[in-house]
Amino acid sequence: EADPRLRRVMESLVKHLHAFVKDVELTESEWEYAIDFLTRTGQICSDSRQEFILLSDALGVSMLVDAINHRRPSGATENTVFGPFHVADAPERAMGDTISLDGKGELCLYSGRVVDLQGQPIAGAFVDVWSDNDEGFYDVQQPDIQPPMNNRGIFRTGEDGRYSFRSIKPVSYPIPDDGPVGKMLAGLGRHPYRPAHMHFLVGAMGYDKVTTHIFVAGDPYIASDAVFGVKESLIVDYQHSQNPDCPWNADFDFVLSPK
Ligand code: DHB
Ligand code: FE
Repeated sequence: EADPRLRRVMESLVKHLHAFVKDVELTESEWEYAIDFLTRTGQICSDSRQEFILLSDALGVSMLVDAINHRRPSGATENTVFGPFHVADAPERAMGDTISLDGKGELCLYSGRVVDLQGQPIAGAFVDVWSDNDEGFYDVQQPDIQPPMNNRGIFRTGEDGRYSFRSIKPVSYPIPDDGPVGKMLAGLGRHPYRPAHMHFLVGAMGYDKVTTHIFVAGDPYIASDAVFGVKESLIVDYQHSQNPDCPWNADFDFVLSPK
């Protein structure tokens, strides 16, 4: 039988689609191009490549759906895109460990606290982190080149809510741009780059998990992220340190809201 939510969604979709076709006075060849574009987008998809998600990301739809469905109380750390490069079974590491295993890039000491909305430390929180290497690739993109679990790890906070680890100061990299979405970006004069960022998934019992990044302040792509993931509150000033073995410091506190 008829589904009222489906009707509501489709009526709105058709209304806006018709308005769009009238607005641009879509030509027949443009309509054919659109059919071909969607066909190619489906054809490139595989277990390790979801071009429709990439399309949704590049059109800003993913961030919008997330904003609508995960409204966070003010004061809680803001979230951003999960991205396609998380792995579920990253190793637990000891506080202070170095997770950059390929010896490339400039080391950075990451540290901060996981706290609640009142600023009280949360013990037993997990801090799951991942980033690209100094050449702009995640370990899973280069399984024959990078050591497994390069630039990833999970840390668990103690009573003081603190975490710390060493990794690299990440670099900006392009989203996969060898498919229909890359072609679309090129045709629009848009670059495929994401500004440098470190991914975090932070959570604790009784609190909402937050999927987020910290972004490197001053990155050339900070104002033009290909997937619109940047939020002001997530931009961090990486500081020069006095330690020649680890020339950067990045400090960031994660504020979790109760479930
Ligand atoms: C990320 C990469 C992507 O290709 C994408 O569409 C969204 C996010 C990322 O690495 O964060
Ligand atoms: Fe990323």
